[in-house]
Amino acid sequence: MRSSLLLGLMFLCQRQSRCQGSSMLAAQTDRVMALGEWEERWQEGRIGFHQLHVHKMLESNIDKVLAGRTGVRFFFPLCGKAIDMKWLADMGHSVVGVEVAEKAIREFFQESNLTYSEEPVPAIPGAKLYKSSERNISLYQCDIYSFSSSIEGQFGAIWDRGSLVAINPRDREKYASLIMSLMAKDCRYLLDTLLYNPELYKGPPFFVPDEQVHSLFGSHYDIELLQSVDALTDRQRAWGLDSLTENVHLITPKSS
Ligand SMILES: C[S@@+](CC[C@H](N)C(=O)[O-])C[C@H]1O[C@@H](n2cnc3c(N)ncnc32)[C@H](O)[C@@H]1O
Repeated sequence: MRSSLLLGLMFLCQRQSRCQGSSMLAAQTDRVMALGEWEERWQEGRIGFHQLHVHKMLESNIDKVLAGRTGVRFFFPLCGKAIDMKWLADMGHSVVGVEVAEKAIREFFQESNLTYSEEPVPAIPGAKLYKSSERNISLYQCDIYSFSSSIEGQFGAIWDRGSLVAINPRDREKYASLIMSLMAKDCRYLLDTLLYNPELYKGPPFFVPDEQVHSLFGSHYDIELLQSVDALTDRQRAWGLDSLTENVHLITPKSS
């Protein structure tokens, strides 16, 4: 009797937190960042999201992403100038990134001391491909939604940091379909999300509850929450936040 009561209570709590997550989503649904606003941020140096070190959650979970593989093809959606790309390429992996801001791409190569070539991409009008001469790194300057598997095939790993949380909330399903179409059969997708009270800050980065990660990817993929850390710093306190949790999920094709 007591155990069935407990089970009932747990079920209700779970349902309630799911409902809270879904209703909290409404606070940011209509927020739209135009591509030009991102380019403006780069021009003005408003890039507080950029990290000067390899991301801790990538570093601490890299073995789970690689799963013993060498020479893995990594995809970086909305790559910015993440140092993580050079770190992986130095280990012998290859990297393909997509980023709308040309300034970010040029700064990535300059700051990594890598020479690079640039060429148009006939399949994507207006896009440019920047390629390192010394490392296996190719960065496409274009809107992520112009990119597809017909350009670079599928990938063995994806590092999604500042990406799902940066795209406009109303585009999440479109973004998730694109990501899934880029995942090879053995792909291991490391996804970083943020939890906070979206009534306090309009984003980006946007609030992405775990239940939405499950609704976006859960039908075809297994989702494991690898790490959950308190990520609140003065930067987010200045946005008005009183708590911030950073979650990292490993998303892999369902085993059966
Ligand atoms: C929050 S930043 C994260 C950058 C990088 N992932 C990192 O961790 O430092 C998001 C980046 O996505 C780029 N971006 C935003 N929307 C985009 C889109 N639709 N297509 C391509 N890049 C986009 C922005 O210019 C910005 O550099």
